[in-house]
Amino acid sequence: MPNLVVVGAQWGDEGKGKIIDLLAEQADVIIRFQGGNNAGHTVVLDTGEEFVLHLIPSGILHPGKRCVIGNGVVVDPEALIAEIDALTGRGIPVTDQLLVSDQAHLILPYHKMLDKFKEAKVGPGKIGTTGRGIGPCYTDKAARVGIRFADLLDDAVFRQKLRYNVEEKNELFTTLYHAPTIHFDEIYAQYARARERIARYACNVTVVLNQAIAAGQSLLFEGAQGSWLDIDHGTYPYVTSSSATAGGACTGSGVGPRHIDQVLGVAKAYTTRVGEGPFPTEFPPALMEQIRTKGKEFGATTGRPRRCGWFDAVLVRQAILVNGIDELAVTKLDVLDDSPTVKICTGYRLDGRVVAEPPSTIEAWGRCEPVYEEHSGWLADTAAATGVEELPRPARAYLRRLADLLQTKISIVSVGSRREQAFRVG
Ligand code: IMP
Ligand code: MG
Repeated sequence: MPNLVVVGAQWGDEGKGKIIDLLAEQADVIIRFQGGNNAGHTVVLDTGEEFVLHLIPSGILHPGKRCVIGNGVVVDPEALIAEIDALTGRGIPVTDQLLVSDQAHLILPYHKMLDKFKEAKVGPGKIGTTGRGIGPCYTDKAARVGIRFADLLDDAVFRQKLRYNVEEKNELFTTLYHAPTIHFDEIYAQYARARERIARYACNVTVVLNQAIAAGQSLLFEGAQGSWLDIDHGTYPYVTSSSATAGGACTGSGVGPRHIDQVLGVAKAYTTRVGEGPFPTEFPPALMEQIRTKGKEFGATTGRPRRCGWFDAVLVRQAILVNGIDELAVTKLDVLDDSPTVKICTGYRLDGRVVAEPPSTIEAWGRCEPVYEEHSGWLADTAAATGVEELPRPARAYLRRLADLLQTKISIVSVGSRREQAFRVG
């Protein structure tokens, strides 16, 4: 298999976990390169067993695959340990096949507190974060006061950096948020304990991955969140704080762009979003309820109900450009099975004009009205289809129209959560 990057083409939850799980079979190394345990990648095995992974690459469910957490990921040691223990408890031991970049930044308790304080303070302008401390951790990384995994492994360095941060955050807590102060000793003890457990996974990921490339192994990069949550390319400020687009695979792992052979975008047959921010094709309440129930659209990390809407070709077209997407996987087609009509958004009406490209400001996003094409639905069960030829004619027409509008080949279609409910096209 070529070295492949898999990214979400919408606002996350496109079903990347399932697609990664399918592709992992043919890959040697599976790599997370950004985000942290804000992600929730759901994988259902042949046995019907469901796993939700937050930090460890979904490849872990395939015995013998190497799983790498790159430098671009922010790692909460407690979350990592909890995930290792949960997997081990379910018969999937996490041993030396897991590698974590010693350059990855660590999430500390004050990041999680700041995440909540910030969200509470801004009130109506809140982002609707997952509350995992992701934004504040990346803030510290950019501010050059972050603590990296390698820092934790050197006790003197860790003490010094933690002391500095506790002092800095306490000043912020008391003056800006009127919150109680935090204590060095407690955090130190907690992280020193965690160190005992996770030190064995630390390594120079750049060297390991480049050695794998030199040995002819294939790399599978597992994007988290989605293109429209990307810090640079998303609906800023309603985004996450990492590079969720394909370029992040290089910066977040230390693999050069020449080694990336292919970019696969994953898009749902409709659209969802968790948290606040613009969403032009969002359903009215009745339809929202119907699709949310049928699609089980509740966050895998926070349990929040996801907002649902029609497929938005404006979004996915731009995601194709930003990522250099070669091919698309379209997931959850079966969720539209009961819809008498299906709509595709082809452009926006903005200030009296129809535009085919996304607007530039969040204010303009708020004024966008979707322009729809309406297609007849298929009103038939697609969940058992094992090939595109088994899909009802209107479903095939729908997929063909999407590929046409997006000028991109749809190479995988998924019609349910189980491994066998997906097939290649063409
Ligand atoms: P944060 O990543 O927790 O800072 O949250 C920022 C925004 O990204 C919020 O709207 C979250 O709901 C959203 N978000 C973060 N991670 C995911 C994900 O894995 N799937 C979907 N939305 C996410
Ligand atoms: Mg998810």
